[in-house]
Amino acid sequence: MPKISYVDGAYYHYENSKININDRGYHFGDAVYEVVMFNENIFFDFDGHIERLFKSLSSIDITLDFSVNSLKILIKNLIKMNKASYGTVYLQVSRGIAPRNHSYKNLKLKPVLIISITEKRNDLYNKMKGVNAITLPDNRWGRPDIKTTQLLPNILAKTKAEQNNAFESIFLDENEFITEGSSSNIWILNYQNELITRGLDGKILSGITRSTIAKFAFKNKIKFVERKFSKNELYNAKEVFLTSASSFVTQIIKIDDYLINNGLVGDISNNLRETYIKTNEKL
Ligand code: PDD
Repeated sequence: MPKISYVDGAYYHYENSKININDRGYHFGDAVYEVVMFNENIFFDFDGHIERLFKSLSSIDITLDFSVNSLKILIKNLIKMNKASYGTVYLQVSRGIAPRNHSYKNLKLKPVLIISITEKRNDLYNKMKGVNAITLPDNRWGRPDIKTTQLLPNILAKTKAEQNNAFESIFLDENEFITEGSSSNIWILNYQNELITRGLDGKILSGITRSTIAKFAFKNKIKFVERKFSKNELYNAKEVFLTSASSFVTQIIKIDDYLINNGLVGDISNNLRETYIKTNEKL
């Protein structure tokens, strides 16, 4: 349980961390967010996540008066105050507080920044068994490339996965090409040893873990291809895995009724996971 959070300019004990009921994030999902993993003083892809936060803000026309450095200081302080050693940092910025009104034109708004810490059990070095996934139609809005808190289709899809004893739901576009997971990017390795993930065509989030893994693939001379891939290619892949800040590289061994690699985790995805965990940033 987190002990202390940062809410709009001050630190509060968890039970006193409150959001105004007129916060536009609460009314409309008019907010963006980031999730960053930490392990002691080490952060995974910290700069990439903060850079994307500012990109998300600018794409929905919010100006946050914070420098990257001051955000770093806040986060470091908060982790120290919570005496947390391993877990996630959650950052959310809403457009601000005002009586409910769809348009924000002419509203005097100051963005509300909140930061909270969730401590987790450190399972970084556990042997991976792989997870199950299901496929579902992608019914999200037209801008899933922006990391907003409007996540209703995602949370319904994730719940459906869990109801089917799976870890993730994989979204399919109208032509049954994979877009991404409900909270992750999806990758396949085919039998020609090509590592494939969908390109940044506006239908997926530009995952920070995704871009780090793409760099590793390049360095390790794995053939990396950014293109759409079909449900059929997914079912018939040699390896399938997902990437996200909180799951790093997690192997998928069963999708709908199809076993991948006879239900065993593959070597390439195992190596990518290990490399990712070894390579991180000191804040
Ligand atoms: N989710 N696609 C979606 C829809 C996501 O929600 C996420 C991350 C990703 C992977 O992005 P990244 O590698 O930058 O974490 C892709 C976070 C972890 C979440 O919502 O908790």
